[in-house]
Formats: sequence, structure tokens, C-alpha cells
Amino acid sequence: MRQRGYCEDGLVARVAIELENCSYTYDGRVRALREVSCAIEAGSWVALVGQNGSGKSTLAKLCNGLLRPQQGRVRINGVDIRHRPVGSVAREVGYLFQNPDHQIFAPTVREEIAFGLRNLGFPSPEREQRLWSALEAFDLTAYADHPPAVLGFGLRRQVTVASLFAWGPPILILDEATQGLDWERSERLLDRLRERQDAGHTILFITHDMRLVAERASRVMVLHQGKLLAEGPVREILARPDLLARASVSPPPVTHLSQLLRPWGMKGESLTVEDFYCEYSALLAEREGV
Ligand SMILES: Nc1ncnc2c1ncn2[C@@H]1O[C@H](COP(=O)(O)OP(=O)(O)OP(=O)(O)O)[C@@H](O)[C@H]1O
Ligand SMILES: [Mg+2]
Repeated sequence: MRQRGYCEDGLVARVAIELENCSYTYDGRVRALREVSCAIEAGSWVALVGQNGSGKSTLAKLCNGLLRPQQGRVRINGVDIRHRPVGSVAREVGYLFQNPDHQIFAPTVREEIAFGLRNLGFPSPEREQRLWSALEAFDLTAYADHPPAVLGFGLRRQVTVASLFAWGPPILILDEATQGLDWERSERLLDRLRERQDAGHTILFITHDMRLVAERASRVMVLHQGKLLAEGPVREILARPDLLARASVSPPPVTHLSQLLRPWGMKGESLTVEDFYCEYSALLAEREGV
């Protein structure tokens, strides 16, 4: 059993998700993933980015057993999942589909969330408690008896998020979870995710929103045409505009601005507005001899 990897400071860390030389081809024609190897440390928040069609959703589906690699191995918490049924992998790895309509099928919001809990064997009183706290956490209580189909895209997305949070798998893979959410709902989801991470859960977060990557993730993986182009700490990867351009990804505007100001002494590594403000005001103070 391989359950350990090395983190940056040399200490041994537990690996939650490990892909070893994984390739996946659809219908024997479309090569969606090419020999991808990566290790995601338990308790980390890793962003997965790349242009449309680069293989992000395919990689996510390999991690929870929905797709099986034609070549390579996937290990979850050190265990090869090759022969494990999807239902068993799902106890450890929760996957939020990119399209909520691929996930929702129950006639009401309440039943949608309850279904997963029942399937996973939660006893009745605990099921009710988990159901109502998930509805409350995502501001869905008023919609409990609504058919998901009558809700807008953002609320349908929230229903799938609430289902996932209701049972709380230790590894969460979210495929463009904030797409279609307004700022408040998006922030609420990100804060709930941070709480899960603080409790030791692992988060693999697929997104096109580089501001979220900069503000929330600790590491980032960049996919390009099915290959892992780069992987590393967010600050390091976002400071490499050439690499990002190759993957059709652009850094957040504030990082770009700090890169443009390199000739004036900025390091070009600001990830957030607060980062930028601190570095820029320190630079001004230095110049003015304050
Ligand atoms: N079910 C499928 N059948 C055939 N080809 C597929 C299927 N799903 C994905 N593909 C192809 O595999 C490649 C990778 O697709 P994937 O959905 O993993 O990319 P992605 O990075 O998630 O893209 P996006 O950002 O648009 O969601 C693409 O060329 C896509 O067209
Ligand atoms: Mg996708």
C-alpha cells in the first residue's frame, strides 16, 4: 500500500489522491488524458485549471471511479481503486458534476438530498438532521418541497452542493462549483469548503476563475491537451505568464497588474488586492524614505 508522499518541507504527508501515469481515451478516438501523474496531499485545497477540453472533468471522473483509466493507476488514500465499485469509492470521494442536471433526479429538493443519505446508510434521525442542516447551510430551506426542475441554474447547482455537503465525504471534487452562483452564494460555498478543509478534508477544485484559485487554493495543477503541464504552489505557478498563456489561462487582474509593475520594483506575485496593497504601499514608503 502506498499512502505517503513528500511535501515541500520534506516531511512525510498522506496522499489522498494519486494518479500514476493515467491515460484515458473516449471511444478509442479522443485522447482526453495522456500519462498524467500527480499526488494530492490529504487536507490540501488544490485547483485544477486548463482550457476547455483540456481533460479536467475526465481527470475528476477517474478519481471517483466513474471512468477507469485504460492505462495507469488511481489510488485513493493509498488504495488502488481499479476493482472497487463506484458506490464504494463514492463513500470517500464526493464528486460535484459540472452540470447539475447530470446529478439531480429526485422530484423534490428534500428527496434529492435524502436519497444520497439513505443510499449511504445513514439512520433515519441522523438523516433528517443532516438534511435540514445542509438545506440551512446553503439557504435552501424554503425550497425543500420544490421540484428542482423549476429552480434556476444557480439554485439547482446549490441543491447538488447541499447533497454533497449533507454526507460530507473526506475528499471533495468540485467541477466548476461556483459557475452560475451570485457572489454571496459563491462566497458562502467557498467558506463552507474552507471549514471542511480545516476539518482535514481534501478539496480538488476545478475552475476557470483564476481569482478564486489565487484567493483560495494552496496548489494548482494546469492541464493542457490532456497533459499535466505544471503543478505547484499557486504563487509560483501564477507568476509564470508564459506557462499560463500556453494553457489559455490568464492570471487574475491584480496579479497581472503587479507583473506589469515589475520594472518599478513590484515582485509580480500579488495574488489578492490585499497582497498588492501591502507590497505597493511598502514600496512607496521605501521610495519616500518613510
Ligand atoms: N463522453 C465523451 N465522449 C467523447 N468525448 C468526450 C466525452 N467527454 C469529454 N470528451 C472529450 O474529451 C476531452 C476532454 O474533455 P473534458 O470534459 O474532460 O475537458 P474539460 O477540461 O473538463 O473541459 P471544460 O472546461 O469545457 O469543462 C475533450 O476533447 C472532450 O470533447
Ligand atoms: Mg469540464
